Amino acid sequence: MYVWPCAVVLAQYLWFHRGSLPGKAVLEIGAGVSLPGIVAAKCGAEVTLSDSSELPHCLEICRQSCQMNHLPQVHVVGLTWGHVSRDLLALPPQDIILASDVFFEPEDFEDILTTVYFLMQKNPKVKLWSTYQVRSADWSLEALLYKWDMKCVHIPLESFGADKDDIAESALPGRHTVEMLVVSFAKDNLNYT
Ligand SMILES: C[S@@+](CC[C@H](N)C(=O)[O-])C[C@H]1O[C@@H](n2cnc3c(N)ncnc32)[C@H](O)[C@@H]1O
Repeated sequence: MYVWPCAVVLAQYLWFHRGSLPGKAVLEIGAGVSLPGIVAAKCGAEVTLSDSSELPHCLEICRQSCQMNHLPQVHVVGLTWGHVSRDLLALPPQDIILASDVFFEPEDFEDILTTVYFLMQKNPKVKLWSTYQVRSADWSLEALLYKWDMKCVHIPLESFGADKDDIAESALPGRHTVEMLVVSFAKDNLNYT
């Protein structure tokens, strides 16, 4: 029920790349209030929002965000990281997976990457666009990405106008250190957007 600073930065990245979004299949995981997914839908992407199937109130928040933004075409599904559910199996191939502030609990990292890996099997060209908040210097994704045959590139915030204290009139990111990553299947050719 809170828009995290990472969501504002990821929304800014989507806005910066809005020209590439129409018609793209975009899935947001751990969506919560769903700001990035809503921006993607407003820019013409075919969006599915998801949050944990065990947290129905979070799924209700996703639905309310769609209603408030007049986006009845956006699907909302329960996807718990690391679970191969009927809803995950039923998803069509995705072009972009959005993940804002989902890498905060190291014990969840492998579950998140398992879900991403599953979607990479459906479309090896799918990209994970993710923002995370630097809360600890102790953890790293590198070893897990290697294990799951993925590679990642850090995108400098200044390259998409997100290095300011205020982004789109939101002061949220200014007080936090947020990083932007694009993760792809290691065997796919490099193309970050
Ligand atoms: C820090 S919040 C970020 C919310 C939103 N993406 C944002 O940036 O504003 C983390 C989100 O992950 C969801 N989440 C937590 N554990 C999950 C799990 N195991 N599977 C799927 N979603 C989960 C929470 O319900 C919550 O919406």
